[in-house]
Amino acid sequence: MLTEEQAARERHKLRIAVCVSGGGTNLQAVIDGILQGAITNAEIVRVISNNPKAYALERAKCSGIPSLCISPKSYADRGEFNRAFLKAVEEAQPDLIVLAGFLVVLPQEMIAAYRNRIINIHPSLIPSFCGKGYYGLKVHEKALERGVKLTGATVHFVDEGTDTGPIILQKAVEVEEGDTPEILQKRVMEQAEWVILPQAIDWIANGRVTVENGKCRVLKAGKERREL
Ligand code: GAR
Repeated sequence: MLTEEQAARERHKLRIAVCVSGGGTNLQAVIDGILQGAITNAEIVRVISNNPKAYALERAKCSGIPSLCISPKSYADRGEFNRAFLKAVEEAQPDLIVLAGFLVVLPQEMIAAYRNRIINIHPSLIPSFCGKGYYGLKVHEKALERGVKLTGATVHFVDEGTDTGPIILQKAVEVEEGDTPEILQKRVMEQAEWVILPQAIDWIANGRVTVENGKCRVLKAGKERREL
């Protein structure tokens, strides 16, 4: 027997738009999480890529998820691209926007319009190895250069800064002797990113994440409060 709140959630699943630029393994982790029940009360309603060659688009297609590509190259300037991108997001009427390896800087008005409703997965333990210029393989190159013994991944809400928003969830991963950036990237994805991104989405879809004074609190199951 569903409680009244559970029934209401069932009627309105969290509508997720996923923004991608590349391989889409994090998108796949979210698709699988929904299929396998690790993520409940949520559905992906649209995948948006800035890169027409992104394999993530193929993954969306294989799963029957509507997708489209908005490439900056097809627009006269950044302002035009931003407007087209924002329109593509708004059309999907998302409750939550997931940046899953999305390498485009978001328009400021989008961040304001979707305050605490945009999340990003970053392949390090923020505040290490993050900010401008830290993306993809570069993050792991820097971690190896510095000789850290632990790295990992972070899911956070997006604010006006680069990787500065409230942290939802982090997971540490060990650096091993002989790691190359590629090997470390793969381990961080397998052990951290593909675990914590679906986990964070499930918490949000079930009303367990609140933001107070710039910090996230994760409510215990049974104390949910869905604000999205
Ligand atoms: C992931 O490692 C993700 O954490 C990273 O890009 C990769 C995308 O892989 N994102 C960033 O570096 C953002 N600053 P995917 O397309 O296979 O999910």
